[in-house]
Formats: sequence, C-alpha cells, structure tokens
Amino acid sequence: MTIYNLGSINADLVYRVPHLPGPGETLAAKGFTRGLGGKGANMSVAAARAGARCVHIGAVGADGGWAVERLTEYGVDTRQIAMSDEATGHAIIYVDDAAENSIVIHPGANAALSKASLIAALSEAQEGDLFLTQNETTLQAEGARLAKSKGLRVAYAAAPFDAEAVKAVLPMLDLLVLNEVEAQQLEEATGQSVSDLPVQEIVVTLGSKGCRWLKTEIDSTQDYPAFKVTPVDTTGAGDTFTGYLVAGLDRGMPMEQAIRLASKAGALMVTRLGAADVIPDLKDVQDAAF
Ligand code: RIB
Repeated sequence: MTIYNLGSINADLVYRVPHLPGPGETLAAKGFTRGLGGKGANMSVAAARAGARCVHIGAVGADGGWAVERLTEYGVDTRQIAMSDEATGHAIIYVDDAAENSIVIHPGANAALSKASLIAALSEAQEGDLFLTQNETTLQAEGARLAKSKGLRVAYAAAPFDAEAVKAVLPMLDLLVLNEVEAQQLEEATGQSVSDLPVQEIVVTLGSKGCRWLKTEIDSTQDYPAFKVTPVDTTGAGDTFTGYLVAGLDRGMPMEQAIRLASKAGALMVTRLGAADVIPDLKDVQDAAF
C-alpha cells in the first residue's frame, strides 16, 4: 500500500557547538553543515528507506528544488510537493558535544500549502493506505479528516508538541506516536491519561529507555527496551523511528516487529550527524550489530 505523508521540508543549518548557547551568549561553532530535514521529510525518507512507497505532500519555495531532488533520490514520490511563493522552510540546529540539540524552525512554505493541493494529493489514495502527519505544516486536521473519509489509516506524530494541534486530529487517529514529555503535556492538556485517549494504538518513545506500546481497546501495555549506542546527534532519530514504524505497519508487519525495526533504525540514527541525508536504509538497520 502507500503512505501519504503531509509534512514539512526544511533546509537544516547545523552548527556543532561545545555547549548549547545560553541567553545573551555568543559562541563560535566548531563545524557547520547544511542538509535536508524537516520532521515530515525525515519521516518520508525513513519510510522509503524502510521499503514503503511514500508520497510526500508538502511545499517548497523557488529555492527548494534541491530538497525535492534529494527526496526523489532517496526514494520518495515527490509529485505532490507544491511550489510556493514563500521561501522553503529552514531550521537552525545546534548540536553540542553531549549530542543534545536545540532547534528553531522557520516554517516558510511549510505553512503555505493550499487545501486544493492537499485534496489533489489525496485524490489517488485508496482504502487501506496510510496517512501520516506531524505538527510542522498547516492542514493536518483537514488532511486527517479527508484521509479517514477515504478509508485510510491515520497516524500522527505529536511533534513539535502543541496540545490544540493534537486535540484537533485526535478523533481521526488510528495511531499516535509521541515521546514521554509530549505524553505528559497531553495528559495535562486533556485531563486524561494517555491510555484513556480515543486512539486504538499509541506508541510512547522513552529515549534511552526504549518505548511503550499501548493498545487502548484491550487496555494492554507493552514495553520494549532500547538498543544501546553512543549518541552523536539525536536530530531526526524520533522521525526515523516513526517513519520506520509506519512503513513496517504499512508493509503488514505486526506492531511488535515494526517497533523492534523502528527502535533499531532510531538507535542507528543517533550515531550519525544530520537528518534526512543520513537516515539508515533497511540493509544498514538489519546489519547493525547491536
Ligand atoms: O526532528 C528533527 C527535525 O526538526 C529537523 O530536521 C528540523 O528540520 C526540525 O524540523
């Protein structure tokens, strides 16, 4: 089947710094790279590298041809990426020696996708396909609603976290992926425990502690350990996890198998500096000796 991913496309400007800068501090970077990123683009690349057919729905500006070319090169179907009058989105990313990061994004074209483009992009979608989105574009709820009405399974990664954005898509979701902090924020915002949310499958990532799968209908919770690695850069690791997870499910894997594959891909990703350009392919993940 096909994954339709409504998601952001960013130029990631990555500065390697000795420590994350504090307020009013000026720091000299030890290194600089420019690469492809955006939570959406990262998830599309991860899904494609995991062997799924992934159609990316999004927008870039006139300066974004390189990003579309790269996505195509990485195996993503880019025919539904619109050209916008806005500049391509970008992210300023600091990565310190402890592999911690801090990220500022400028949405640009990611916030300029038209509803007509979204409708056109989903016109070929079929029952049983999967719709994925995150919170770095507009039209998430519209996309989720349209996808649901066409019989697609709907998955949402609640990042960057915004309680209102999650609440807007919640009624349409089959799968929600979020981290521990986001889960806590969502519990505060809804007054409900995550396990009581009206979503059948919820995966909470727990960083170095692994992840938790909640199957809410039957009140079951299963924990999975993380693979042990020495982190270099955690940027895009969560996106890699989600892309691999939905690709595994789309390819018919049971949730447990998809989670193990996604956890391994996410672990390998934190050993690499960068985002979409360095997302491991399926062979790298299968061969990883941990
Ligand atoms: O999740 C990592 C991503 O967040 C980066 O690639 C950056 O573009 C921001 O969207």
